[in-house]
Amino acid sequence: MADDPNQMPGRILLGKSDKPEYLTLSKGNRHGLITGATGTGKTVTLQLLAEGFAKAGTAVFAADIKGDLSGIAMPGDSKPAFVKRAADLGSAYVAEDFNTVI
Ligand SMILES: Nc1ncnc2c1ncn2[C@@H]1O[C@H](COP(=O)(O)OP(=O)(O)O)[C@@H](O)[C@H]1O
Ligand SMILES: [Mg+2]
Repeated sequence: MADDPNQMPGRILLGKSDKPEYLTLSKGNRHGLITGATGTGKTVTLQLLAEGFAKAGTAVFAADIKGDLSGIAMPGDSKPAFVKRAADLGSAYVAEDFNTVI
């Protein structure tokens, strides 16, 4: 959507706390650490980063030992929970695939 605030160029929407949380692409060359207990969203955050950089035209190399990120090679399902989550973030849910070499 052209007026979708979550699809604005120059940043990647990572999720939402009490407000949307973005990574500004111009800060994407800094070091980062994603940490948390099981089920807190580490893998999904990595997927969002890989997809966001790919959309911005940046090749992504990931040492994906367990295959956690491989799902980005196929479009996802439009499950009701995904559609609702996107709506909560002010976006339309769009299932996309990304060019992937494994
Ligand atoms: N940004 C997000 N927005 C909504 N739900 C999320 C988000 N990140 C993760 N989740 C939910 O949490 C679940 C666990 O996330 P996951 O990334 O697999 O956790 P981890 O890798 O930290 O164990 C996902 O299957 C999804 O249902
Ligand atoms: Mg994980």
